[in-house]
Amino acid sequence: MLNQTVIEELKLRNNIEDVISSYVQLSRAGRNMKGLCPFHSEKTPSFTVHPGEGFFYCFGCGSGGDVITFVMKAENLSYPDALEFLAARAGITLPSYKDTREQGGVERSDVLSMNREAAKYFHACLMDPKTPDGLKYLKEKRGFSTALIRHFGMGYAPGGWGLCNYLKSKGYSYEQMLAANLILKSKKKENTYYDVFRDRVMVPILDAGGNVVAFGGRLMGEGQPKYLNSGDTPAFRKSKTLFALNFAKDHCTERLILCEGYMDAIALHGAGFPQAVATLGTSMTPEHARMMKRYTKSVVICYDTDAAGQAAADKAFRLLAEVGLDARILRVKDAKDPDEFIKKSGAHAFSKLIDESKSRFDFKLERILEQHDPRMTDEKVKALDKITALIAEYPSSVERELYITSVAKRFEVSSGALSSDVERIIRQNARKQKKDFSSDVMRKTEGYSDRVNPQVMGNVAAARAEEAILGLMLLKDDIAQRAVSEELVREEDFVTDFNRRVFLAIKDLAKSGTAIDPGMLGEQFSPDEMGRITKMRLVRAELSDNRFEVFAECVRRLKDSKKTENTAEDILAILEKKRKRN
Ligand code: GTP
Ligand code: MN
Repeated sequence: MLNQTVIEELKLRNNIEDVISSYVQLSRAGRNMKGLCPFHSEKTPSFTVHPGEGFFYCFGCGSGGDVITFVMKAENLSYPDALEFLAARAGITLPSYKDTREQGGVERSDVLSMNREAAKYFHACLMDPKTPDGLKYLKEKRGFSTALIRHFGMGYAPGGWGLCNYLKSKGYSYEQMLAANLILKSKKKENTYYDVFRDRVMVPILDAGGNVVAFGGRLMGEGQPKYLNSGDTPAFRKSKTLFALNFAKDHCTERLILCEGYMDAIALHGAGFPQAVATLGTSMTPEHARMMKRYTKSVVICYDTDAAGQAAADKAFRLLAEVGLDARILRVKDAKDPDEFIKKSGAHAFSKLIDESKSRFDFKLERILEQHDPRMTDEKVKALDKITALIAEYPSSVERELYITSVAKRFEVSSGALSSDVERIIRQNARKQKKDFSSDVMRKTEGYSDRVNPQVMGNVAAARAEEAILGLMLLKDDIAQRAVSEELVREEDFVTDFNRRVFLAIKDLAKSGTAIDPGMLGEQFSPDEMGRITKMRLVRAELSDNRFEVFAECVRRLKDSKKTENTAEDILAILEKKRKRN
């Protein structure tokens, strides 16, 4: 964990009011500030900032936390990235937090140098005539040239203890190899380790800077899993890595080609398309979209032709639009993926497909027309209904008008009629959105299908007591210290798992003698959970009586709640309250 003084320093230099002010227009309300919540849409302000205590809370949607949580939510960043964001904003350099996080002291630089050694080892095994299967597979089955194999530094993992022994001879420890996800501990034999990748062709995964951050391995025959990819390590997060970007970044200022599998990207590079990249067995994330935005103007999505690939394309279109990238889609014909297409039809045909790639609108239109043949009147009506709904999704009225004109002409309907249908759907959507939102808030505030703490529903009385206990501990340092040192309440007293986790985290803080600042919990809890923690503290702060006796009484109530069964009345009372509100 990063030194707490560093986090305190970061918070000191990033005044919560200043940071939030650059996103939200705040006005003064007593000691605090308020404004329109940036995390849900509202017309009257329910978003509050408490500069004195260093946190924010929205009474509308329940989001809350400290300045770090705010940046995580507003910029969609992970905890460590939010710290870096704030450090950069304040002009300070963080100690190598990123390097040492997660894996008990194994540094990112160790993992990187170890991975480089491993890549060398795998490549040597591939070229070794004693183990010819890997090279044979890559050349004969995949049709890769020797030059391409070298370019990507591909390899072969023989398995057993091959890599393990090799890295040991280079001076790496088992602990380091474990942290890099290169070896596994034997479950049967104590102190025995073996290679993660066994009898697979290996593809090193490089980041944009050319570091070997991970590996992917494919079986050469049938079997499961077909692909094995490194799990996340101090040097690798798959949601943030684009395969082949290290090569593509020099060729993609105008256009980048995005594939689903790294074998597809490799095949494209081999066929003369060095602007191809691939995600690593996950669909696109917002982080991927932001990365692409740094290197290119437009993206051609080139996913598999199966249903999963086409559904993923929808999501990709949305994420790319959100970062302002121009996106088009290409669909290979008579092949399941680009790799297969290139092998069958060649590079020239692929070039033509890029030229013919479609916008999101045309792509969706084509799919609608595949389902409904417009030559039959009733099918044409169904198709037009779907097209109207599609047009209504576009926020720009100019764009909508262009589509309306072209669709009206193509399907021989009046653009006036089409246009009024589109307007009607836009109004319907707005109403539905509002309704969905308010029922969402209702659910959250009632603890009804509570996402942060789902056990509230079955344990109302206990959960209420737990929340009061935790709220008091968060608010009053002396109560927290006493509760912990005298063991007035213990983890086994807690009924709901979430509240127990919060208790344990507070206990750790109290034991280490740190001030009980909910902000110190941001590393262990998600932004949603931070919202709940902030609320517990805030609810208590607004009550007048927060003496130690109140705390003792809540502990007694919690312990009592365990003796009595969960009453049906509790649940009925909640449902009744919910019904009245509706
Ligand atoms: P080939 O059959 O070798 O041509 O593979 P492909 O590129 O057509 O792969 P597919 O479309 O099946 O999968 C695309 C990507 O998903 C791969 O690059 C992998 O990253 C991932 N993937 C596929 N199968 C598995 C699997 O069994 N396990 C894991 N972890 N990832 C997989
Ligand atoms: Mn394939």
